[in-house]
Amino acid sequence: MTLRLEKRGAVGWIIFDQPAKRNALNDAMWRGIAPAMQKFDADPEVRCVAFRGAGTEAFSAGADISEFDKNRASQESVGQYDTLLDQVLHAIQDSRKPSLAMIYGYCLGGGLEIALACDLRYCGASAQFGIPAAKLGLAYNVEGHKRLLETVGHARAREIMFLGRRYPAEEALAMGLVHRVLADDSLESFVDEALKTLSENAPLSIANSKTLIEEYVKSVGAPDHARMQAAMERCARSEDYKEGRRAFIEKRKPKFQGR
Ligand code: COA
Repeated sequence: MTLRLEKRGAVGWIIFDQPAKRNALNDAMWRGIAPAMQKFDADPEVRCVAFRGAGTEAFSAGADISEFDKNRASQESVGQYDTLLDQVLHAIQDSRKPSLAMIYGYCLGGGLEIALACDLRYCGASAQFGIPAAKLGLAYNVEGHKRLLETVGHARAREIMFLGRRYPAEEALAMGLVHRVLADDSLESFVDEALKTLSENAPLSIANSKTLIEEYVKSVGAPDHARMQAAMERCARSEDYKEGRRAFIEKRKPKFQGR
């Protein structure tokens, strides 16, 4: 499973624990997140939820690519996977308890997606951020795009998605991907203090602000879901998507053809 849940005082911790794979998120881990959120939501002693990766090398290097051939190859399974991801992001975003991501090292793809679903993001100076979907021929999902766009705006979202590059902590801060960068050895104590404050502040005031802020950042105008779905399916069915996975496993540079 490799998802670890810990209750420390008023904080529910969700820990990605697959350090040999840079805390990449396998299917079981994705499936475990929404029930973990529901468990902490239902626990009156828990006042806030925090995410981290085991160790200090990575928050998470994203979805576990070694499972893609099994879980994310056919059009149908890609659809199911995206539904699962959307459920996970909603479980985090829809909680009325505040959530926080404490980020050391790599925070990529699905890892960044989860961090962005949280209310607050604090990282160590060693952290690196990115969404390398275009390096894998992968169609990044709808909720992930929406939250990225809401967080950094469309100009930066375009660069992040089109180049698929990694950004160091200070650049991530300048883009608004994180709230603050701390020295690696100060991150935990800073986060503990922030979580203590979140736990002591008035829950209904926080829940009220969450609701009002969400309503205000909602995208204007209804997006064309059919058009988005068609773009995602085209990518999910592509040879390039297979090539991206293969190249990662074979540790070589992918050769994309646009089909
Ligand atoms: N899925 C599956 N395995 C992953 C992984 C992922 N997302 N990220 C890292 N790993 C595995 C590597 O395959 C490697 O396994 P091995 O020891 O069996 O060879 C191990 O984790 C360590 O990774 P490695 O690349 O050797 O470490 P690094 O410190 O040089 O680089 C990363 C770390 C995160 C930059 C690099 O592994 C990477 O780019 N990973 C993929 C990130 C990605 O594309 N995520 C988006 C998925 S949607």
